[in-house]
Amino acid sequence: MKVAIAGKGGAGKTTISGTLARQLARQGYEVLALDNDLNPNLPLTVGIPAERMTDLPTMSSDIVRVVDGRLELTQSLDEIREAHAMEAPDGVTVLVAHEPKKADTGCMGRYHVAMRAVVGAAPNSQNYICILDTEASTEHLKVGTAKHVDVLYAVVEPYFKSLESGRRVLALARDLGIEHLALLANKVREGELEVVQQFADEHDLGLIGAIPFDDCFYHAERAAVAPIDFAPQAPAVVAIGKLARKLVRG
Ligand SMILES: Nc1ncnc2c1ncn2[C@@H]1O[C@H](COP(=O)(O)OP(=O)(O)OP(=O)(O)O)[C@@H](O)[C@H]1O
Ligand SMILES: [Mg+2]
Repeated sequence: MKVAIAGKGGAGKTTISGTLARQLARQGYEVLALDNDLNPNLPLTVGIPAERMTDLPTMSSDIVRVVDGRLELTQSLDEIREAHAMEAPDGVTVLVAHEPKKADTGCMGRYHVAMRAVVGAAPNSQNYICILDTEASTEHLKVGTAKHVDVLYAVVEPYFKSLESGRRVLALARDLGIEHLALLANKVREGELEVVQQFADEHDLGLIGAIPFDDCFYHAERAAVAPIDFAPQAPAVVAIGKLARKLVRG
């Protein structure tokens, strides 16, 4: 299964992607976590030590070429993993698209294209899960980075701009042909889930679940530790474990 996590800036995409990756790995799945944010933070959230963040290995855009109008990887997925990925706790593999180190050196489209091909090449087998953490802009949907995912969740906070961003994301994802789409409420405090449910109903959108507002993430970030290592029993971490089970049940 392949799943993309999208939504407005700061909604919680990376926190959820990284914790979901670890929860799924603990539930016995082989997990490939893909960071398509060009300001990459997924590795830390998955459990790569903070010291490595200043010199992250990233994917090279020459892993793709166009042959007869079709996009092809120039290496196997195993070779790409070997050369560019990192191993995180619980056996999660993390692959980062790119991190620009020099300004004024052109657009990033080719990294989206490379990531799209990686997602396409990831196995469709039952015990394999590929999680794509996206950046806040909808550019990745215009480029079609998530074209080959089966599921896309738009993470929303319970306020209008966030919900509206989620609605736009899901409209583009539908246009891309992604089969299973839903809003995922995050940072939900008491009484706020109704706001998200009402928005979902009004716009005929599914709502897959709700992650409570939880200070554990703030404290985990202060300590520069993955939330699941910092507070495995925190309500939001447990809620993401529940989401993981729901995701694989379909
Ligand atoms: N359920 C939650 N409760 C409280 N804080 C949360 C929750 N989820 C995420 N956060 C906090 O919100 C902030 C943004 O989270 P995160 O970086 O995951 O968002 P993002 O959508 O990936 O952001 P970006 O658009 O920059 O990639 C972080 O400080 C994180 O700790
Ligand atoms: Mg993020």
